[in-house]
Amino acid sequence: MSFKDLIDKQRLPRHVAIIMDGNGRWARLRGKYRTYGHRHGVRSVREVAEAGAELGLEYLTLFAFSTENWKRPKTEVNALMRLLVQTIHKEIKTLHENNISLKAIGDLDNLPEPILSELTEAISETAKHNSMSLILALSYSSRWEITGTIRTIAEKVRAGAINPDDINQKMICDHLSTSAFPDPELLIRTSGENRISNFLLWQIAYAELYFTPKLWPDFRKEDLYEAIVDYQKRERRFGKISEQVNGK
Ligand code: IPE
Ligand code: IPE
Ligand code: MG
Repeated sequence: MSFKDLIDKQRLPRHVAIIMDGNGRWARLRGKYRTYGHRHGVRSVREVAEAGAELGLEYLTLFAFSTENWKRPKTEVNALMRLLVQTIHKEIKTLHENNISLKAIGDLDNLPEPILSELTEAISETAKHNSMSLILALSYSSRWEITGTIRTIAEKVRAGAINPDDINQKMICDHLSTSAFPDPELLIRTSGENRISNFLLWQIAYAELYFTPKLWPDFRKEDLYEAIVDYQKRERRFGKISEQVNGK
């Protein structure tokens, strides 16, 4: 039996975010260079995108490259950037077939030109698709994002457009790069690392966290289903007590 059959379609998370980790270790286990693992991670991306759209998720955010990842050896960074261009180019077909619209968050101006143009083109070509939004976090880190948000709000205060007394949580959300998306209800991290690594810190305030030892290149549709089944077993209390949440 598939975990898919255990999913309650009425209680799907609207937004799932994934920290795709473990490509390097996956390759090393096979005696290969780390980039071999990155290449094999592409299939996993395709699988979760298809599975997410088939299930009816509205948003799927994938952490593909962090601000801190720029500090990796130049050869690995270059290989990752090349792979990104190739993948976006090749997988546009998958996006069309599954009616998925591509979006991106992060310090995109920092990306090399071929990626930026490939990305911008794929985003505009898929803008009309309406089954699921696939959001790539590229050159993204949460502290980068929050710092930018504070700067923007501070500039508006200086210009007299915002009164500091009016700053509230909604205003902050509206200035984040995720302003167009709801917060993820479920955050998955692969590879057995139990940390967040500077991903969506504000947005995951009440997300359910799911850690799996699976390395990213081994992650398949079934693994996504399993994570969602686990998520659906949990009681989300948001600070209240069980009886309140259950309406007793
Ligand atoms: C995740 O796999 C991909 C990126 C961060 C770009 P890693 O490259 O971090 O693989 P490990 O964690 O070293 O195994
Ligand atoms: C997090 O993975 C970033 C991405 C998955 C893109 P890392 O491999 O960079 O995280 P750390 O360094 O182990 O925390
Ligand atoms: Mg890693």
